[in-house]
Amino acid sequence: MALPNIGGEHRDGRFTPPFPDPHPKKSSLFWRFVRGWNSWIHVLFAKSYTMKMGEIHTPGLHMYIANELPLVRRIMADWRAFPKHHLLVRTLGPAIGNSVFSANGDDWATQRAMINPAFQQTALGHTLPMMQAAANALVERLRAYDPSRSVDIDPLMTHVAADVIFRTLFSVPLDAAGAQRIYRGFNRFQRHAQSASMMRFYRLPSFGFFNRSRRAAAAIHAVFQPIVQARYDAYHAGAAAPADDILAALLAARHPESGRPFTFDELMGQVSTIFLAGHETSASAMSWTLYCLAEDQTTQAAVRGEVEAICGDGPIAADAIRRLSLTRNVFRETLRLYPPVAFMPREVTCPTQMRDKQLAPGAMLVVSPWLIQRNEDNWACPHAFDPTRFDDAANRAAMREAWLPFGAGPRTCVGQGFAMQEAVVILASVIRTFDLAPVPGDVPEPVSRLTLRPKNGIRLRFTPR
Ligand code: HEM
Repeated sequence: MALPNIGGEHRDGRFTPPFPDPHPKKSSLFWRFVRGWNSWIHVLFAKSYTMKMGEIHTPGLHMYIANELPLVRRIMADWRAFPKHHLLVRTLGPAIGNSVFSANGDDWATQRAMINPAFQQTALGHTLPMMQAAANALVERLRAYDPSRSVDIDPLMTHVAADVIFRTLFSVPLDAAGAQRIYRGFNRFQRHAQSASMMRFYRLPSFGFFNRSRRAAAAIHAVFQPIVQARYDAYHAGAAAPADDILAALLAARHPESGRPFTFDELMGQVSTIFLAGHETSASAMSWTLYCLAEDQTTQAAVRGEVEAICGDGPIAADAIRRLSLTRNVFRETLRLYPPVAFMPREVTCPTQMRDKQLAPGAMLVVSPWLIQRNEDNWACPHAFDPTRFDDAANRAAMREAWLPFGAGPRTCVGQGFAMQEAVVILASVIRTFDLAPVPGDVPEPVSRLTLRPKNGIRLRFTPR
């Protein structure tokens, strides 16, 4: 049962995009179950947005939410004392196995060292033309729509983000059928994984939800497993690398001590992680960005002016990306309001005192970009869409400490630079080609499972310029 949205409205020249109306009080165990079944952000209550630290207890779990910034820093910095929680690791298992996103301790440190080179600055420059090609293909898909009708941008953003990953990982574009299998597969995976998690939190049997999430993950893997297998076999048969892409970097990666490469299963785990962590998050953020720009026509016109002045009709070059500061700030502001990873769960590994609470081993400790970035102690008018706040020197400390859509500390997102570059190229390409308009009365509803997505899509009108 969902709560009504608030926001989605213009007041005093400012747009406040939609979010669930927080409950006045903490809900009972029963209502938390009912609301959490579909979306974590629907369990929050008014005080959640300002409290320094909160707690929720279910029959299967003691959960604490840390909002106070020094606590957040401590948790995110200490990756040994506060590893990824085993329930999250188990939930993600069918999709990403034991890979860099889910591993802990020394195992994580080794995996991270092995995949880092694929995302360094030089590798990033190399991906730019592939991102531009994916953005151009999206523009062509959008041109094919009848401008008098609305378009659901959610699957389109999944297609372009998955296409970017396909081109940069494997050097091949993703076709429409593959994009659709991925969009449906991941939606199914999220739904079943959410249900399986709720059952665990309440110590109930999983009633087949875990197996269903496993089948959904297998359907996604089937889209790219043959490509990985063929490249793995060719590489180990001594064939020259066919392309200088992320998969080539992963095949060349060596264990820092033993010098051994990834096994096939390990490689599939890393590829699945990069594929899922890399397209689902970007797709969600770009959908919400286009929605906010459709509603805020003044900012939309300003972004278009910036892109036309810096890039004209040509490709979005690397030096132009650095200069497209408003476009970048629009994306940053959307990541503040709609962080695709809204909750980051860690595990308490030894008895720990935090504020007035004594946390026992096994407890879940959650850091929430959704709450921290919408906390009025950190940001003025926190629910309003205002990209100019990133130009305001008074917000410098908040930008450093209270803006963490890519996480924080050593486990921060390895794809942050990749995602920012991709978003600027795609948003700039779309905005200079089309006028975007919202559909009156059609307000999207954010729901948060593993990632934050619009519940029933986002419909917009695109008119070619
Ligand atoms: C807007 C887009 C993105 C957002 C908001 C995002 C967000 C995040 C967050 C919050 C984390 C840390 C989670 C935690 O600490 O619990 C993370 C980790 C990670 N992300 Fe991203 N991400 C994005 C794009 C990407 C891209 C494009 C890639 C790869 C192509 C990627 C790959 C990864 C990987 C591999 C990790 C695990 C890092 C580690 O644990 O060492 N992400 N991401």
